[in-house]
Amino acid sequence: MRYIRVLLVLYIVSVSVNAFADFSESFVKGESLSLPCLGCHGKSKDLSIPSLFGLEEDYIYNSLIEYQTGQREHYLMRIISNGYDDVQLRIISKYYSLQGIKNE
Ligand code: HEC
Repeated sequence: MRYIRVLLVLYIVSVSVNAFADFSESFVKGESLSLPCLGCHGKSKDLSIPSLFGLEEDYIYNSLIEYQTGQREHYLMRIISNGYDDVQLRIISKYYSLQGIKNE
């Protein structure tokens, strides 16, 4: 019985460590994938190009898809969004949505 309990605890610990590793790995990935965007978008809400910080994840993702497909027209954003695959766009969208400053 005791043996089973120890195994159970070990299992739970390993699952949570893995979950944390997955999260921090995708966060680091998000940060490096998102870095090129900051050259234009920046962090300040006073720039003419909108900041992405704190926008809704779905809003960012859908905008990027709309630029990719040409539904939303913008020459630069079309080229940029086409440089990423779907999984990468999701990671980037999540990354920005988790950043604190709202785009007001
Ligand atoms: C060369 C400059 C430049 C870079 C680099 C750039 N963007 Fe943009 N982005 C713009 C401009 C300009 C607009 C406004 C376009 C418009 O009017 O539709 C824009 C618009 C957007 C929007 C819509 C914002 C809104 O409020 O509706 C999103 C989302 C976005 N960009 C995401 C990204 C992401 C993610 C990256 C990096 C992968 C990126 N952009 C890199 C110039 C850039």
